[in-house]
Amino acid sequence: MQSRRNLISGAALSAGLGLATLGLPRRARAQSTPAGEGQAIWGGRFAEKPGAIMQEINVSIDVDRRFWKQDLAASRVHAAMLSRQKIISSEDAAKIDAGLVIIEGEIRTGIFPFRREYEDIHLNVEARLAELIGPAAGRLHTARSRNDQVATDFKLWVRDALDQMQLKVRDLQLALVTRAGEHVDTVMPGFTHMQPAQPVTLGHHLMAYVEMFGRDVSRMADARTRMNECPLGSAALAGTSFPIDRTWTAEALGFARPAANSLDGVADRDFALEALACATLCAGHLSRLAEEMVLWTNPQFGFITLSDSYSTGSSIMPQKRNPDAAELVRAKSGPISGAFFALNTVMKGLPLAYNKDMQEDKPPVFVAFDALDLAVRATTGMVLDFKANKARMAAVAGSGFATATDLADWMVQRLKIPFREAHHLTGVAVRLAETRGVDLPQLTLKQLQGVHPGITSDVYGVLTAQASSASRSSYGGTAPAQVRLQVQRWKGLLATT
Ligand code: ARG
Repeated sequence: MQSRRNLISGAALSAGLGLATLGLPRRARAQSTPAGEGQAIWGGRFAEKPGAIMQEINVSIDVDRRFWKQDLAASRVHAAMLSRQKIISSEDAAKIDAGLVIIEGEIRTGIFPFRREYEDIHLNVEARLAELIGPAAGRLHTARSRNDQVATDFKLWVRDALDQMQLKVRDLQLALVTRAGEHVDTVMPGFTHMQPAQPVTLGHHLMAYVEMFGRDVSRMADARTRMNECPLGSAALAGTSFPIDRTWTAEALGFARPAANSLDGVADRDFALEALACATLCAGHLSRLAEEMVLWTNPQFGFITLSDSYSTGSSIMPQKRNPDAAELVRAKSGPISGAFFALNTVMKGLPLAYNKDMQEDKPPVFVAFDALDLAVRATTGMVLDFKANKARMAAVAGSGFATATDLADWMVQRLKIPFREAHHLTGVAVRLAETRGVDLPQLTLKQLQGVHPGITSDVYGVLTAQASSASRSSYGGTAPAQVRLQVQRWKGLLATT
């Protein structure tokens, strides 16, 4: 293991700050915090330490340590601003910055002491900073509160999660577009009410999901734009009397502007809710696709096969090939939409401004984004993995009277009869076929002419699944030419953005 001394001086030097030049001890020793041994950082007005149950319900370090990076980044920016504004000295600011860099190194290498007695990530960092750099650490919290600190850190985390999620959903779209391109003319049954409806192409079906996921990405982008206001400097709730520069800190942290109302700045969690709403809708789309994969891999459908990497066996039934990954993706919409519900219920009815209830905002968001991340990646994997059983799909696509609408349309176009009448006559033809135990293309011309004397032999040209799907060439329709157009359009969109 790397020695602590190397690590510390290495980290500090990487920030352009040597410990010696800062007058810091060569080796950081644990020093007592300004609050004194065993005292909470806020313990001045208290005679006793909090009780065990109080500590247990209050502590959040196990959860919020997850955004340590954001916490350090926001603190470094805050300290730099305090120095620029001459609220603290540049020497203290340099010490604080060097200390925060050391802490970053400690966390990265796993030697940072996360301590439950310091409640949360903010107090853990501050306590450690005091141990590392001494009294200057106490100046970091000038013109700041944990209320604006946590709002800022969490928002930075959620913003980053949304950015990464957009990229992952785009990867999924790319996978779908690629597979759709391979299957622009692979016919399969299209369903309504889960009953055979009209033949479609597999490419068309996959492209439907590209549209859904495209809306998910654009929703995430919208949410990101809306949330991009910086709470830092809202302080506890009312702002501060120090001459801080909120525009500077906002920009330094990549925000478009500071939040314009300090009460809202610390009390807003709709950025997290909106991210969860985006996640919920996306998870819903994933679960629909997953459900179709579950159905399609069922041997009675037999439309697709997932390879061994996405299937599991049964411990008792040797023949089984279970689509567990698809089933689990289908299920993830439960915890993800549950997360939205959980946080919305925490937030509703809370008076302004900060309330400790809001500490419960993080677990649902972390649960949801972890689940979504996995579900998206698993779906991308399955989309790239599945093998389409074209012959089986084509056979099923042509069965179940799936070309009945084509027969009706043919009569409208060729025999110039109203659609309602053609619909009725086609129903008669379907009934006839059904009683004979055949499908529409197997009815003889004579039988068809019994339904309407004007029917000629070229009607058979529209009764196959291929002809049926190829004829639906209206914009956005299932005809291979239309699907090809959409595949091209999306390939362009995904390449440029
Ligand atoms: N751990 C707290 C949270 O997540 C940080 C803010 C605490 N603020 C306070 N005034 N006690 O919400």
